[in-house]
Amino acid sequence: MNETIQALANFLDASPSVYHAVENIENELKNAGYSRLFETENWELCPGGKYYLTRGGSAVIAFRVPTRAPKGFLMSASHSDRPCFKVKENGELAGTYTRLATEKYGGMLMAPWMDRPLSIAGRVLVETEEGIESRLVNIDRDLLLMPNLAIHMNRQANDGCKWNPAVDTLPLLGGKDAKGKLQALLEEQAGGKILGHDLYLYIRQKAAIWGVEEEYISAAALDDLACVWGCARGFLEAEESGSIPVLCVFDSEEVGSNSVQGAASMLLETTLERICGALELSLPRMLAQSFMVSADNAHAVHPNHPEFADPANAPVVNGGLVLKFNAAQRYTTDGVSAAVFRKVCAGAGVPVQTYYNRADLPGGSTLGHISLTHVSVPTADIGLPQLAMHSPYEMAGVRDAAGLEKAMAAYYGATLEVSEKGFVLK
Ligand code: CO
Repeated sequence: MNETIQALANFLDASPSVYHAVENIENELKNAGYSRLFETENWELCPGGKYYLTRGGSAVIAFRVPTRAPKGFLMSASHSDRPCFKVKENGELAGTYTRLATEKYGGMLMAPWMDRPLSIAGRVLVETEEGIESRLVNIDRDLLLMPNLAIHMNRQANDGCKWNPAVDTLPLLGGKDAKGKLQALLEEQAGGKILGHDLYLYIRQKAAIWGVEEEYISAAALDDLACVWGCARGFLEAEESGSIPVLCVFDSEEVGSNSVQGAASMLLETTLERICGALELSLPRMLAQSFMVSADNAHAVHPNHPEFADPANAPVVNGGLVLKFNAAQRYTTDGVSAAVFRKVCAGAGVPVQTYYNRADLPGGSTLGHISLTHVSVPTADIGLPQLAMHSPYEMAGVRDAAGLEKAMAAYYGATLEVSEKGFVLK
């Protein structure tokens, strides 16, 4: 297994929750010499400077100031969250057994959550002498399981099954005396009294590289942590650009992006405004020479169900990055942004495939068209082709993941200029 894929697998395994994923990206930025900015403070930015800020512990924006007068912004956006189950307040349900009360976060495949070890990770808000502090927790052991109903009690189980999130997917925590023990475990790990929490279930299975030529990777949250990782690696590896490279990772994509740290928030717009203010640049002029890559995974054609794919635009795993199109603009790619992104990938030697929903299927949505409502720049919707999207254990291609890193390094090292004749990428 090559170093790139091992690094991706390590990142995925070390990111059991949205907060852990963002903390890992933050650590990469710190190690690469990025200074943290705070939204509460005045920003003094200098040419050659490298900066980042976080919001809510689950979104991060990083950028570099070029040494010469910048042309515009070259941005990417990906999302840190994944469909999963969120732990409710008063979660420990006593009875014959002790179960955990949860609710659905996002639209997931529910069946693959059954009969496998699970645990809990996220953040807790702890009372300290100074006030309220957010701390990450991860009960790093096999803790919970959602047992299936036996075939003898559910003879229709193999003919399509209905899952009720108020009944079928409440995980088992322990025997009848277990109530209160999870709270104690969490408080012990948090080191104080818990005043609030955002805790999620995650599967314990580690990332695996498999296939006859080790060409596939399976892991939790490939959608969209594989893009978070690929964009971040490309951003950090890129050569100096004459534009301002901006890396964005947003939370809440799986529930519509409407949160303080989601793509529908003012976070990116405010950040670009403040960069322009600190560097005495005109934001409208900068935006007129800017570009966004919205990176979120795409559906590959399914080996057993090719009938769900568009006949002419059916990406295959390990066939290259995917440009996503939709006439209704659920995917924002148009002729211009497709051409720019294809040129970047051609320069990096990375193949590009195309995706449309089958014209009679509604398909999904992503970050690009939401971020556009605040920061209106040409946007290409791209992603890695993957299978089993929104399963707790998804699969993608080893070569595509490496290709994303290469393409994003080329993108972030380019300079975008807009002239009368069109776009020039240098
Ligand atoms: Co996604």
